[in-house]
Amino acid sequence: MNKKEQIYEGKGKKLFATDDAATLIAEFKDDLTAFNAQKKAQEKGKGALNAAISAKLFRLIELNGVSTHLIKRLDETNHLIKKTQIIPIEVVVRNIATGSLTKRLGIAEGVKLPFALVEFYYKNDNLGDPILNDEHAVLMKLASENELKTLKELARKINDILRPFFESIQLKLVDFKVEFGRDQSGRILLADEIGPDSCRFWDANSGEKLDKDRFRQDLGGVKAAYEEVLRRVEGALK
Ligand code: TMP
Ligand code: ASP
Repeated sequence: MNKKEQIYEGKGKKLFATDDAATLIAEFKDDLTAFNAQKKAQEKGKGALNAAISAKLFRLIELNGVSTHLIKRLDETNHLIKKTQIIPIEVVVRNIATGSLTKRLGIAEGVKLPFALVEFYYKNDNLGDPILNDEHAVLMKLASENELKTLKELARKINDILRPFFESIQLKLVDFKVEFGRDQSGRILLADEIGPDSCRFWDANSGEKLDKDRFRQDLGGVKAAYEEVLRRVEGALK
């Protein structure tokens, strides 16, 4: 598949056209950003680590009944994907309270939530990705009521697949963000990526953070943490 012109550049990936109008190539970048790109860095090899981790997790999710945009990983940093219209809603699932949840609502850090909490955020850098409820999303025509219901169901299903998987490799899946797109027939597919840039992983034994919080909080060892996540994921998913 030929990589043709670049059609989009986001904070973590570039998208390229291919010979087939229904297919794109997503190239994972080495850029690290946090706090709506107020904090930026480069970490050589980070794109390849995320591309490898995300491909394995998307395959696991697909095998467990959730359709994704991934066709295949082409090389270290490139995924061949189905073209979708991205729904501009970041769907966050939380199992343990931390991050913006504890800041906004005063819930204690590290508390196990009684059920997986699903939240919507408006994907809009200029506004700093504000939190949304269903009525905001419908009145802004970001998605229909039916689609919102599907997004919640799919997000919970993905959590039900990933949480026990990460438990089996001694990682707590604290929370994560997913994005979805509509294909040409309006079917909703898991899109974007899943990995240490968009999840929080805590080591089940030491509690060590093995995700982008190492960058956000200046803890050091970002690449080593991502490598450790890949090592464990690959160990479990040959
Ligand atoms: P938060 O606690 O900062 O709201 O983050 C919740 C989860 O969503 C966490 O796993 C990190 C992920 N996330 C993103 O992937 N992109 C974002 O822009 C934000 C704010 C969070
Ligand atoms: N992804 C967002 C950014 O790059 C925020 C974050 O993950 O902290 O700015």
